[in-house]
Amino acid sequence: MISDNRVPPPPTPPHELVPSLLAELSAYPSAAVGDEDVLPHSGEENPAALAAALERRHSAHTFATAPLPGDALERLLAEAGRAAHSGWPDAARFPVGVVVLALRVTGVARGFHRYDTATDTLRHVSDADFDPADAVLQREFAHAAAVLVTHGPVPAAVRHDGAHGYRRLLLRGAAAVSAAWLGAARESLAACGFAGLLPDVLRTHGVVDVDEDIPLLALAVGLPEPPGGDAGDRSNGGQGGRATRDQGAAACTT
Ligand SMILES: Cc1cc2nc3c(=O)[nH]c(=O)nc-3n(C[C@H](O)[C@H](O)[C@H](O)COP(=O)(O)O)c2cc1C
Repeated sequence: MISDNRVPPPPTPPHELVPSLLAELSAYPSAAVGDEDVLPHSGEENPAALAAALERRHSAHTFATAPLPGDALERLLAEAGRAAHSGWPDAARFPVGVVVLALRVTGVARGFHRYDTATDTLRHVSDADFDPADAVLQREFAHAAAVLVTHGPVPAAVRHDGAHGYRRLLLRGAAAVSAAWLGAARESLAACGFAGLLPDVLRTHGVVDVDEDIPLLALAVGLPEPPGGDAGDRSNGGQGGRATRDQGAAACTT
C-alpha cells in the first residue's frame, strides 16, 4: 500500500471566508438577473460598490450626541421602503410599514412618525415623552438618533399562507433593514440592526396595532461617536444621556 505522507493544508478558518467572499464579489462583473430569480433583485448594480459598503458595514453600539441630518434619514427610509416592496409578489396584499422613533433628527420633531412609502413622507403619530431607555431591552440603542421599526400584518399573512406568510414578512422586514443599514454604511453613519422597540411602547403610543401589525426588525442609526467619545455631552437623560443601566457594546440578543 502506498502511504500518502503529504500534510493536508489547514482548513480555512471560517472568519477568513468573508474577506475572500468580498474579494470575489469585487472582482465580479455586474450580476445578470435571470427569470429564474425568485427573490427581488436588490437593485445593486455594482458589485464592487456593494462590496465596499459591506466592508464598511458593522454593528454600531455607540452613537454621537449630534443629530442625524434629516435628509440622510429620508434616504435610508426610501431605501427601506423600496427593499420591502419592489418586486415582492405579496407587497400590495401585505404591506410592510416603517415607523420611526426620531430622537435627534434635524428638521424632524422628536416623536413617532409613520413613513408612507407611496408618498415618501413622514407623518407624525405621537410625541416621545418618555425615556428612550424604557423603550428598548438593549439600552445602548436608546442613544441612537433614530430607530426605524419595520412591521407587517403577520396574522393576516399566516391566515393566508401559513408559516410561509410569516417567513416572507420577516424576509421583507429584514430586506428593508439591510438596505437602510447598507445605506447608512455608504454615508459613514453608525447603525445596527436589532430586535426593536418594546411592543408595549408602540401600543401605548398608538404607533401600530401590535396585535395585527407585528414589529419585524429594527435599525438604530445615528452619527458615529467621535474618537474618544462624546459621552461628556450626554447630560440630558432622554435626549441621549447614557443611563447607568446601559448594557454596553457586549450586549446582544441574537
Ligand atoms: C437580522 C439581525 C438581527 C440582529 N439583532 C441584533 C440585536 O437584537 N442586538 C444586537 O446587539 N445586535 C443585533 N444584530 C447585529 C449582529 O449581532 C451583528 O451583525 C453581528 O454581531 C456581527 O457584527 P458586525 O455586524 O459588526 O459584523 C443583528 C443582526 C442581524 C443581521
